[in-house]
Amino acid sequence: MSLLTHTIELPDEAATAALGASWAPHICAPLVVYLAGDLGAGKTTFVRGLLRGSDYQGTVKSPTYTLVESYPLEQADFHHFDLYRFTSPEEWLDAGLDELFTPRSICLIEWPQQAEGFAPAADLTVNLSHLKTGRLCQLAAHTEHGKRSLEAWIKN
Ligand SMILES: Nc1ncnc2c1ncn2[C@@H]1O[C@H](COP(=O)(O)OP(=O)(O)O)[C@@H](O)[C@H]1O
Ligand SMILES: [Mg+2]
Repeated sequence: MSLLTHTIELPDEAATAALGASWAPHICAPLVVYLAGDLGAGKTTFVRGLLRGSDYQGTVKSPTYTLVESYPLEQADFHHFDLYRFTSPEEWLDAGLDELFTPRSICLIEWPQQAEGFAPAADLTVNLSHLKTGRLCQLAAHTEHGKRSLEAWIKN
């Protein structure tokens, strides 16, 4: 179910990163974001852009092997998950990932379906899919909090 949706075409990698960066002024913890889309769709690129837009200048690497990369910034604690390598949803509990969901956290989850029934529900979904060259980005808000953020974002 979605309260609000918005679709954008992203012709190249820079456009994906710029979209992520443009969201930074409009997010407010606590927030749970699902990043949907195939391997190579641009999910990590989007998160990198969001962190750059949040004044984080360090390296943003894919959490494929580490499960989660955390960025404790002044405005919020960003946690970037990649659950691709989960073999069962219960791993969510074994890995203690629930502890990362606090009133200060912005949680961005790649492959959330791998933890179905365990990961917290999303305020927003960012769905990226391959076009012939670039990508299509479909944004959907599922909660009032997510909707307010999406409204403010797409107004600019
Ligand atoms: N809008 C876009 N158009 C074309 N290539 C893109 C776009 N966005 C990202 N990419 C490229 O897609 C590749 C995979 O990106 P990545 O963010 O690692 O995907 P994912 O995390 O979804 O697996 C990277 O080489 C990146 O440069
Ligand atoms: Mg990725």
